[in-house]
Amino acid sequence: MYHLTEETDEDWWDVEALYDLCFAPGREALSSYRLRDGVAPVARLSLVARDDAGILAGAIRYWPVSIVGDHEAHDALLLGPVAVHPTRQGEGLGGHLIRESLLVAQDLGMERVMLVGDAPYYSRFGFSKLRDVEMPPPTNPDRVLAYRLQNGTWDGVTGKVMRITSAPDGPA
Ligand SMILES: CC(C)(COP(=O)(O)OP(=O)(O)OC[C@H]1O[C@@H](n2cnc3c(N)ncnc32)[C@H](O)[C@@H]1OP(=O)(O)O)[C@@H](O)C(=O)NCCC(=O)NCCS
Repeated sequence: MYHLTEETDEDWWDVEALYDLCFAPGREALSSYRLRDGVAPVARLSLVARDDAGILAGAIRYWPVSIVGDHEAHDALLLGPVAVHPTRQGEGLGGHLIRESLLVAQDLGMERVMLVGDAPYYSRFGFSKLRDVEMPPPTNPDRVLAYRLQNGTWDGVTGKVMRITSAPDGPA
């Protein structure tokens, strides 16, 4: 039995340790991390899953980003990292974290989510390839995926994904 709660300051280093365990060394060198530098995650969507003993089993974070086109800019949420402890994988926890956080984002009236990840995994949640939106290089465009939280919210959104310094829904 896992308990999902919003991540607090006390959770931060536990979550960092989990990510270090679950991802290849040097994860912070990835270009997507340049969008996170010095920016707070979106608190209401960044969740931790602990078991009955309080042990961290999984975590998900989101960051606010801006997609800047020639004539206009659009806010978006960058999903990730999401990770589940290797001893707890395959139990549905990753899916639970993703679905729950997407529901919260939808309820909050947020519009669009993107990520860099494996399409075979994220397609089961409704993510599909995002065209005409450019992540900082080097990023494989086939791994740039989108999810719409409200009808039509990706329509006409094009441009480069840029770092911003405040959450789309206010201070995180
Ligand atoms: C990806 C991750 C979060 C999934 O968590 P989980 O709790 O194991 O996921 P679930 O139990 O909800 O789903 C498991 C299913 O996803 C599939 N899956 C997991 N990772 C996958 C991937 N990269 N590509 C395709 N399918 C994947 C499993 O094969 C399994 O398939 P099944 O339902 O057909 O048996 C977890 O494996 C993890 O932490 N991986 C390392 C970190 C990582 O890669 N994070 C995602 C990138 S940001």
